[in-house]
Amino acid sequence: MAEIYAVLKTVHVGSVAVSATGFVVRGWLMLAGSPLLTQRWMRIVPHVVDTVLLTSAIALATLLHQYPFVDGWLTAKVLALLAYIVLGSIALKRGSTRSIRVVAWIGALMALAYIIAVACAHDPRAGIF
Ligand code: HEM
Repeated sequence: MAEIYAVLKTVHVGSVAVSATGFVVRGWLMLAGSPLLTQRWMRIVPHVVDTVLLTSAIALATLLHQYPFVDGWLTAKVLALLAYIVLGSIALKRGSTRSIRVVAWIGALMALAYIIAVACAHDPRAGIF
């Protein structure tokens, strides 16, 4: 049990690190107006990483018997994750002007920082008060 937990947590935190780094880099490319962003692999790799991240999240929650909409800190994580996904997609894809994309990118990074603070403290108020 302890070994499975350790492996899942390593996979979860590792995929969080890769996903967050990738999001910062793609935001940087967006600001620079780089054509790299439109490359096929640039759009596929983040989906693979985020699938690993979410699968390990669900496995960890199941193992620990702690669930979103039951435990406040996981509810906060899931809601902030939705905000991160919507803002991230406006920042990297849907935003019609550069200003909208930049504001959405900063908002997405704030949502990501909040998710990490909540994860470390197991408390939805983490990083706010
Ligand atoms: C972008 C999304 C996410 C990020 C950045 C993230 C980040 C993290 C981090 C940094 C940790 C380690 C905390 C520590 O050291 O104790 C963690 C643990 C955890 N996360 Fe996530 N997470 C995300 C999504 C999710 C989701 C959607 C769920 C639930 C459905 C989830 C469930 C968990 C669980 C159960 C743990 C283990 C807590 C423990 O060991 O006590 N995560 N997460």
